[in-house]
Amino acid sequence: MSIRKEEAKDYEIIYSVIKKAFDSTKHADGNERDLVNALRNGDAYIPELSLVAEVDGVIVGHIMFTKAKVEDTVVLALAPLSVLPEYQRQGVGTALIKEGHRIARELNYGYSIVLGSEKYYPRVGYVPADLFGIKAPFDVPRENFMAYKLKDDAGKVCGVLKYAKEFGILTVTCQKSGKKMKSAFARLTMTTLCQIHHLSQMLPGE
Ligand SMILES: CC(C)(COP(=O)(O)OP(=O)(O)OC[C@H]1O[C@@H](n2cnc3c(N)ncnc32)[C@H](O)[C@@H]1OP(=O)(O)O)[C@@H](O)C(=O)NCCC(=O)NCCS
Repeated sequence: MSIRKEEAKDYEIIYSVIKKAFDSTKHADGNERDLVNALRNGDAYIPELSLVAEVDGVIVGHIMFTKAKVEDTVVLALAPLSVLPEYQRQGVGTALIKEGHRIARELNYGYSIVLGSEKYYPRVGYVPADLFGIKAPFDVPRENFMAYKLKDDAGKVCGVLKYAKEFGILTVTCQKSGKKMKSAFARLTMTTLCQIHHLSQMLPGE
């Protein structure tokens, strides 16, 4: 198996790898591949951190890390990660994550954040993000919102993660019946926790 940067000529194949990987899961919403296309056209895209895994010249897996922010610090959001069903459980996903981490260190990123399975990502070092002071911008079980410290000397970060706008997570404040209401709407399409699709929350204002 080899891992390399994605190229424009790979986009169609990557699209189908993502579709096949997520079609095989219960939690997909069919938008994961469109999310990747949108991210590629946005400011958060990092060409060096969109990788494909190849076996005998055939693309069998894909991973994308994009820029996100915690306060003023740029961190990475890992999403999505896809491996063709027939190549799963052979170490492809792990290899993609580890190679991404290696490149991310070279590029001087301090943290990678993922929303996903608490059974999968800890295998490659992820721990609940709140241990670093990083909070999710939506309600999620703490064990599913994880972070990995890429560099020992990474500065401290503290605050709510702000994903690239292409993820479609936004928070608005609206006025309703004279009362201030805080409304948070999150639309996630990306991880093993994809069952969190249309997460919306209405909180009474102060
Ligand atoms: C999740 C995924 C990327 C893992 O890739 P992979 O190449 O199969 O993973 P690896 O071979 O590196 O690791 C396999 C190990 O992880 C575990 N694992 C794999 N997928 C898992 C999941 N969704 N949840 C928990 N554990 C998982 C397996 O138990 C396996 O361990 P075992 O063989 O000792 O039992 C792949 O299964 C996939 O593409 N799934 C569909 C899309 C998806 O859910 N993507 C992740 C969210 S963005």
